[in-house]
Amino acid sequence: MVHAPSWRVLAASLFLVVGAGSASAQSAPVPTKGPGHAAIASANYLATNAGFEVLGKGGNAFDAAVAVSSTLAVVEQQSSGIGGGFMALLHRASDNRDIFIDARETAPKAVDMKVYVGKDGQPNRDTSTNGPLSAGIPGEPAGLVWMAAHYGKLPLSVSLAPAIRIATEGFQPDARFLGTIEDRKDVLARYPASAAIYLPGGEVPSAGWTLKQPDLAKTLQRLAAKGRDGFYKGETARLLVDASRGAGGNWTAADLEAYQAKEREPLSVDYKGYRIVTAPPPSSGGIAIAEILNILAGFDLAKLDVAHATHLTIESMRRAFRDHNEYLGDPDFVKMPLDMLLSKYYADGLRATISPDKATPSDLLPAAMAPEPGMHTTHFSVIDAEGNMVASTLTVNLEFGSAFVAKGTGVVLNDEMDDFALVPGQPNAFGLRGALANAPEPGKRMLSSMSPSFVFGADRTAVIGSPGGSTIITQVLEGILAFIDGKSATQITAQKRYHHQYLPDRVDVEAGVFDDATTKALTDMGHVLRNRSPWGFMNVVTWDHRTNTLDAASDPRRPSGLGKVQ
Ligand code: DON
Repeated sequence: MVHAPSWRVLAASLFLVVGAGSASAQSAPVPTKGPGHAAIASANYLATNAGFEVLGKGGNAFDAAVAVSSTLAVVEQQSSGIGGGFMALLHRASDNRDIFIDARETAPKAVDMKVYVGKDGQPNRDTSTNGPLSAGIPGEPAGLVWMAAHYGKLPLSVSLAPAIRIATEGFQPDARFLGTIEDRKDVLARYPASAAIYLPGGEVPSAGWTLKQPDLAKTLQRLAAKGRDGFYKGETARLLVDASRGAGGNWTAADLEAYQAKEREPLSVDYKGYRIVTAPPPSSGGIAIAEILNILAGFDLAKLDVAHATHLTIESMRRAFRDHNEYLGDPDFVKMPLDMLLSKYYADGLRATISPDKATPSDLLPAAMAPEPGMHTTHFSVIDAEGNMVASTLTVNLEFGSAFVAKGTGVVLNDEMDDFALVPGQPNAFGLRGALANAPEPGKRMLSSMSPSFVFGADRTAVIGSPGGSTIITQVLEGILAFIDGKSATQITAQKRYHHQYLPDRVDVEAGVFDDATTKALTDMGHVLRNRSPWGFMNVVTWDHRTNTLDAASDPRRPSGLGKVQ
């Protein structure tokens, strides 16, 4: 056992005297003319192609984003869907404006923390991750309708058409999709509407199986025809509420009617001549990325060997995640010291507590095991010919969310309730320990790590993001740093990764990220390294303004993705 690091005290005192800094995004330096062609990178080739189909019908990047999102909701249902939520960053070229759409799920009015606590006082993982009680009120349908209505050029009947067609005609799920059915088969088998779709004849289907989803197609058609009311009212809403309540859930028609997607001001941070525009709360990702970059800005990493540059980055991650656990939650419910967390002076204070060659032990708390990330949640990136951009991360949380399909809808409900701090101080599925700021309350959004981001430089722009639970934040950070070092989308997605999240106090590493000498040097500095696999599923688009070239890359770790320039 060690004492809590002294930087906590230092940080608290800095808050009292400083309170400086700005959380709002100013316009970023981008060329006045678009690239003249488009790029899309997503986790599934059918979704990337759906985006291009809609661009070909006269749509812009925002229409393409609706097409990609809704197609992913059909072909990559284990990762995201209209029973889940998303956070998207938009860049509108015509007025150089950055917009953040928060389509995060909310807790239902009847939320009851007691159901997530076992008799032993420990988190009850079954209620928080399986079945209807684990599901927040979906945000994705409202967010897509909002994006289409405010920023798109085409009606939903056009931008949702590829998804409706694939749901109707069917597609052959890839090995990753089938593997997640295998992972979740016991829970899917509990719910008849889930088993009927994913376990035909009671078995996990094998390669070559065609999945047709007429109920999901009808649900999407109601959304296309009636917009928001086609999901949050009428037949879909009734089916969702009946299914939830019929299986022990607590949703009401009023919960669905009350749901609103929200526009928020994106966060912005300047780093080494680049402007990074990223996700504000209720994502913790942007705050953590900004805090880490502000700390790193005071070091000259390029002058250091890999081991020492990595050590300083790990120490910055540790400090940012510590704040994440303590302060962050839904901005509509909690007051957060954002000015402090984003202040350069605060970062100076944190930097001063970092030893140049010794790891700082994280805390008194025992380390918790975090599960492996990366098979669920999804991110895609788009740039269109005019220079409009979308970075969107979408999720149902764990594989197949709650594994509960609402009968008659084809909709898999999320299990996002586990992203709340259901038992304060106890780790969630990603080992994240929240405080009161992230406790569940009726109508409140659970904190997210989703970090869709833009990186704007004088000569180059990147659209970036990843799934991966808590590792989203560090994967996106490492991608941003690689882009600033001159790397392309292809190089960024291929780059090996590492992660530290304060607790558990260890560095998760991808095999091969460090050579033997660096591994030894980091270990000698006191870092505990642990191999972890798999890693996220980055989908990145970059634009080099000097040559007007686009690069679109899907993570080479997964064959189903497609980055395409056209
Ligand atoms: O919003 C979040 O932070 C989580 N629900 C994301 C989950 C995730 O990325 C799982 N993927 N590996």
